[in-house]
Amino acid sequence: MKSQANSLLNFPAHRPRRMRRDDWSRRLMQENHLNTNDLIYPVFLLDGSKQSQAVTSMPGVNRVSLDLLFSSAEECITLGIPVMALFPVIDAALKTPDGKEAFNSNGLIPTAVRELKKRFPTLGLMTDVALDPYTSHGQDGILDEQGRILNDETTAILVRQAIVQAQAGVDIVAPSDMMDGRIGKIREALEQEKLIHTRIMAYSAKYASAFYGPFRDAVGSANNLGKADKKTYQMDCANTDEALREVALDISEGADMVMVKPGMPYLDIVRRVRDEFNYPTYAYQVSGEYAMLKAAAQNGWLDHDAVMMESLLAFKRAGADGILTYFALEAARLLKAIK
Ligand code: PBG
Repeated sequence: MKSQANSLLNFPAHRPRRMRRDDWSRRLMQENHLNTNDLIYPVFLLDGSKQSQAVTSMPGVNRVSLDLLFSSAEECITLGIPVMALFPVIDAALKTPDGKEAFNSNGLIPTAVRELKKRFPTLGLMTDVALDPYTSHGQDGILDEQGRILNDETTAILVRQAIVQAQAGVDIVAPSDMMDGRIGKIREALEQEKLIHTRIMAYSAKYASAFYGPFRDAVGSANNLGKADKKTYQMDCANTDEALREVALDISEGADMVMVKPGMPYLDIVRRVRDEFNYPTYAYQVSGEYAMLKAAAQNGWLDHDAVMMESLLAFKRAGADGILTYFALEAARLLKAIK
């Protein structure tokens, strides 16, 4: 159908530049739009109060204590950003091989969730379900004697972590660990606990990517992980069909939303997931992508606002319903100013 239509096009009956000539006609035929509703804002949370530390590899991003996060939460609401996503910076003394701090109901994340939901009930709140900020070895799961990641034993801990977060009142739990079967186990436990409103955003197609480097600096897991990698659970960057199988599994196990991660180098995956499943699909513009754009802009090599907006719109064009991005506040401020 489409290709037939294209074969009817010929010059000079058709001059595509005609529609590009004026701003109004460009706007009239714009196929995709970026809106503040598309944005999810990831933040790094520190223990204590009045704490703020710059993340060197992510210019403009700070790890902050809860009291300093309130103003960001308020700004998300003012700007119309639907969701804030919390990532914890865990005290080194609390990290253990089994990451059990992850299910401490008085830990950093559950406490922050309770406080944020009390103050900002209308702001969607999302938390990460994975053990890497909590383990002394920096892996997302627990290890056997040979140092291999144990799947089902890890999942049992992730279930406890997700339940503690949901009981604290989080709106979305987001398993980013890539263990097999964890979405089903978490969904089953949520049902058992009558936590039927808790949404699950599954990091379904999560690749073993080098673009996560700055994030690992930010949460302080980089040193723990050392030279180890996550290739036995995160996916091979070479694969596409495998991503579709992962998404199919997560949807069948009870995910409300699926995610592709990283973002911009994986827009082909976003498009295929969107086309195959027609299911709420999100992309994560990860720390390394943010760092690249910021660094180039700081050097004067790229126009900051222009590449920020172009990169975000590209996710919409690829079929994403929303984007997790460290640019969320900056992009939303710009979108508000344009209106
Ligand atoms: C933890 C997690 C990671 C990211 C989100 N959750 C890092 C990793 O898997 O090593 C990366 C986010 C980013 O790079 O911005 N499981």
